[in-house]
Amino acid sequence: MTAGAGAPLRKVLVIFAHAAPQRSRVNRRLAQAARSVPGVELVDLYETYPDFYIDVAAEQDNLADAAALVFLHPIQWYGMPSLLKEWVDTVLVPGWAYGAGAEALRGKHFWLVASTGSPAEAYAPDAAHGHHFDAFLPPYRQIAALCGMEWIAPHILHGAHQSSEETLGAHVDAFAARLSALTAA
Ligand SMILES: Cc1cc2nc3c(=O)[nH]c(=O)nc-3n(C[C@H](O)[C@H](O)[C@H](O)COP(=O)(O)O)c2cc1C
Repeated sequence: MTAGAGAPLRKVLVIFAHAAPQRSRVNRRLAQAARSVPGVELVDLYETYPDFYIDVAAEQDNLADAAALVFLHPIQWYGMPSLLKEWVDTVLVPGWAYGAGAEALRGKHFWLVASTGSPAEAYAPDAAHGHHFDAFLPPYRQIAALCGMEWIAPHILHGAHQSSEETLGAHVDAFAARLSALTAA
């Protein structure tokens, strides 16, 4: 993969999980932006696997030659949508993703890109969600760590429904710029 006469691009794999993209304001825009970045490949999980039956070998092949893995999704019940969890459960298996001799994901970057319906202030000990948002990140961080992947600070948009067009646009632009940087990293 190359960009004109420049250095070869590294593949960045975005796993996009939104159960109702037709109603999405934020993640659909982010997915569109990702598709337009050279070197980025996006898998729309709910479109590809509406029956939840994931082609594990195909997903592992797709991941094997990527330099970075990105999860793109709305936060649902403090975590990832169920089909993405199914992807994690079936694709990141012992002996391939982690454990003795497993090297498939070692050294790749891992980036969480997610949105919340609630505003940032709702994520605090004395507020609706009882904890700062970072308190919900350990499962993601540990998935990356166990597989030997390098953690990139998450790109989170809080208050997804209320955010201004300007804020959303800046968030999408920053996402695309970082994706582009990852293809060159
Ligand atoms: C089943 C479900 C669970 C949700 N759980 C949370 C949650 O735990 N915390 C939160 O802030 N928002 C939650 N939301 C709101 C979504 O995160 C929000 O609608 C989404 O980030 C907006 O992105 P979109 O415009 O791409 O759909 C939930 C939404 C759904 C449908």
